[in-house]
Amino acid sequence: MKFFVDTAEIDQIKELNDLGMVDGVTTNPSLIKKSGRDIIEVTKEICSIVDGPVSAEVTSTEADTMIAEGRKLVTIAKNIAVKVPLTWDGLRACKTLSSEGHMVNVTLCFSANQALLAAKAGATFISPFIGRLDDINLDGMQLIEDIREIYDNYDFETQILAASIRTVNHALESARIGADVMTAPPAVIKSMINHPLTDKGLAAFLEDIKFTKQKILYFISIPCHCIDKIIRAKIWKKLLAQNCSLIHQLFLMTRN
Ligand code: E4P
Repeated sequence: MKFFVDTAEIDQIKELNDLGMVDGVTTNPSLIKKSGRDIIEVTKEICSIVDGPVSAEVTSTEADTMIAEGRKLVTIAKNIAVKVPLTWDGLRACKTLSSEGHMVNVTLCFSANQALLAAKAGATFISPFIGRLDDINLDGMQLIEDIREIYDNYDFETQILAASIRTVNHALESARIGADVMTAPPAVIKSMINHPLTDKGLAAFLEDIKFTKQKILYFISIPCHCIDKIIRAKIWKKLLAQNCSLIHQLFLMTRN
């Protein structure tokens, strides 16, 4: 499953990207507003950090203008996916832009029929909004299941991008159902690691090893004026024999 991060906050994208948790980024006008940045400038910066698809949303409601905006957005970087809303104009823009070879993410999907139309219009990604359906007492996960079934029935290549993910359970269920991608706020991705038994188990392991007084790395501080002596007296060999990797590194550093 690919992980997209749903934010325009550069620091948060960098942090998760360094951990290998970012296969792409999704933005929308509200996230751009929240970042306080210029849409073109911030999108460009995101594309310079992340190799995978970066969704940038059009701001028009009329197909020809959406197409023009999309053509401008794709000049920002090769990995731009133009995000269009699930309207007839949006689908017309989707059809044109995808025929030109651009990635298109059709957003604001709330029904399986809408997802079927987006696939037929050549969407690269369909974004069903789970959280917003749950907000009005409908079942967001059921929508992901329905779209998966329909796309599999007809081998549509459009990727299901589970969006509006608010909880770790949304992430888990999307993965279980087989959404191709999920896009989630950084906080949700970060909290996927939490488990009280991991914390409890780690605390017990640390206590036990402390009791044995054993260590894997021994940190010894050596005054600079002694380094030469250590090297000449070949003490470093003894230290290495004691599995002292820090000294090993120190020796290599001083030798160069
Ligand atoms: C997806 O592309 C949207 O940007 C996002 O997931 C919307 O999430 P929200 O419903 O929490 O605003």
